[in-house]
Amino acid sequence: MEGAYYKTKESVEEYIHLAKDVSGAELIEKLKPFLSQNSLLLEIGSGPGTDWRILNESYKVTGSDNSNEFLNHLINENPNGEFLELDAITLKTDKKFDGIYSNKVLHHLTDLELINSAKRQAMILNDNGIICHSFWKGEGSEIFKGLFVNYHNEVGLRDIFEDYFEILSIENYKEFEDDDSLLFIGRRSKLH
Ligand SMILES: C[S@@+](CC[C@H](N)C(=O)[O-])C[C@H]1O[C@@H](n2cnc3c(N)ncnc32)[C@H](O)[C@@H]1O
Repeated sequence: MEGAYYKTKESVEEYIHLAKDVSGAELIEKLKPFLSQNSLLLEIGSGPGTDWRILNESYKVTGSDNSNEFLNHLINENPNGEFLELDAITLKTDKKFDGIYSNKVLHHLTDLELINSAKRQAMILNDNGIICHSFWKGEGSEIFKGLFVNYHNEVGLRDIFEDYFEILSIENYKEFEDDDSLLFIGRRSKLH
């Protein structure tokens, strides 16, 4: 579901400032046992680019976002980087990847949009491709700063992804408070 917050220069500058000391370094460590070094990795919703830079230490990364403001920032800061304008739901690209990663992005999708995204992710992954996504843990949904936020639990994530992915791990972790977040790791199933 669309919201303006990530689309204006002022709010994107605000987000970059607020998020400057946080990174998904610990999440990326959880991904590494499942995705070998130098694999082709797509990041969805790269935003400020903090995780994009960490992922680049281990993988051949393509960053992406559906916000032009974030994309301009990413390209300015990383002129040699590879970035695509991609919507998480449709993922319109002919490229194929060994892995797809996102950190606190897919909670902006409704359940139906997330099901469509999961299907597209399976289509743009190579055989045995790995997905690694973080979510806010909880029930229901709300509008926060004008943005749709969808909360998930382990059972709900299994339901959404299991048609296309073998579930490798779903772990609670702490972003701000104990167990406020979930990290989902899956492998593309042979049948889809
Ligand atoms: C909470 S921020 C997270 C950014 C970054 N991953 C991080 O960890 O700081 C959400 C990001 O997802 C992007 N985003 C939101 N909805 C999206 C969609 N449907 N497709 C692609 N990107 C989206 C926003 O533009 C923003 O960059």
